[in-house]
Amino acid sequence: MVARGRVVTDSLGKTRRLGKRLERGGEGEIFALLDRSDVIVKWYYPEVLKKRGETLHRKVEAMRGLRDSHMTRDVCWPLIRVFDEHHRWIGFAMYRARGVKMGFLAHALLYQRYFPGLDRRQIVGYLIRFVEIVQQLHEAGVCIGDYNLNNIFCMPGSDQVTLIDCDSYQLRVDGTFYPCPVGSPDMTPKEHQGVAFRHTLRNSRSEAFSLAIVLFKCLMLGRHPYDIVGGDDPVRNLRRGHFAYGRGQRDVPQGVWYELWGELPETIRDMFVTTFTEGASAPSRRATLAQWHAALSDYRDAMTAGECAMTLTMPNRPQRAKVLHAR
Ligand SMILES: Nc1ncnc2c1ncn2[C@@H]1O[C@H](COP(=O)(O)OP(=O)(O)O)[C@@H](O)[C@H]1O
Ligand SMILES: [Mg+2]
Repeated sequence: MVARGRVVTDSLGKTRRLGKRLERGGEGEIFALLDRSDVIVKWYYPEVLKKRGETLHRKVEAMRGLRDSHMTRDVCWPLIRVFDEHHRWIGFAMYRARGVKMGFLAHALLYQRYFPGLDRRQIVGYLIRFVEIVQQLHEAGVCIGDYNLNNIFCMPGSDQVTLIDCDSYQLRVDGTFYPCPVGSPDMTPKEHQGVAFRHTLRNSRSEAFSLAIVLFKCLMLGRHPYDIVGGDDPVRNLRRGHFAYGRGQRDVPQGVWYELWGELPETIRDMFVTTFTEGASAPSRRATLAQWHAALSDYRDAMTAGECAMTLTMPNRPQRAKVLHAR
């Protein structure tokens, strides 16, 4: 592979050698630094730089100005500007996240491979950390916007959570608004559906809705809260607030999925039901991050005290999981 240079300079004009390419994302490539295995460089694709380079550069600079110790540690925040051999800005350096994508934890088949011995208490531990990190971001006026389980890294065997892909976050710095230009409809609340993401103004209520979907997917090992009712697709169910679980609803998935649901504390089930039914079209009805944090902490305490089951009664039965998924 012929790399584009492979040598970059940092903000201080210091030359840095890139190691191998680690990933290709939607907007750029991720390289290791040759002499710092804990630091990686995001190098935007030439066509992205051509089209939106200036906007991106301004946003990343605004982000760098906002960083604090939390952001550096829990979020892979842009830390250092990076230029190519012609001194053109091409991206930034950040810390490398350790751990495994949350997408592999919220997965009925994969979690055992990537998180050996995983139990409910550990899942809840990750979720509490996740909520705390999002709360810190909100306090700094930053919204995640594009919620995606693959951008949340969890360290097996600890509670450590680290967020990546933060150059898409929504923020406001010194009166300038930087939108989150991306998203996926099945993680986006109704009020922001059908509007271009770059024109969407996320707020604490819309964030709370998307965050609740992340929580649900983890506690339910990959099920989407809106993925079954009447055979409709999740986005359609989401827009209608058709949530199949809880309070006298029909079309509830039977078997192991319902058992998983039934083992959650009533408070948490109620918060999901309210958020995903009335809350689908009434943002003020959604459980807040503070409420999630309190409920999850109580849940973890109850498990620690032996008042709630910690083991996952879960699908060692892949064929069954598949059948239910296909309904
Ligand atoms: N800070 C990081 N630590 C570890 N892996 C990362 C980090 N940033 C990106 N990656 C990896 O590179 C992939 C693409 O990066 P991302 O920033 O999501 O690109 P894009 O937004 O262009 O799609 C991610 O899915 C992840 O696997
Ligand atoms: Mg991105």
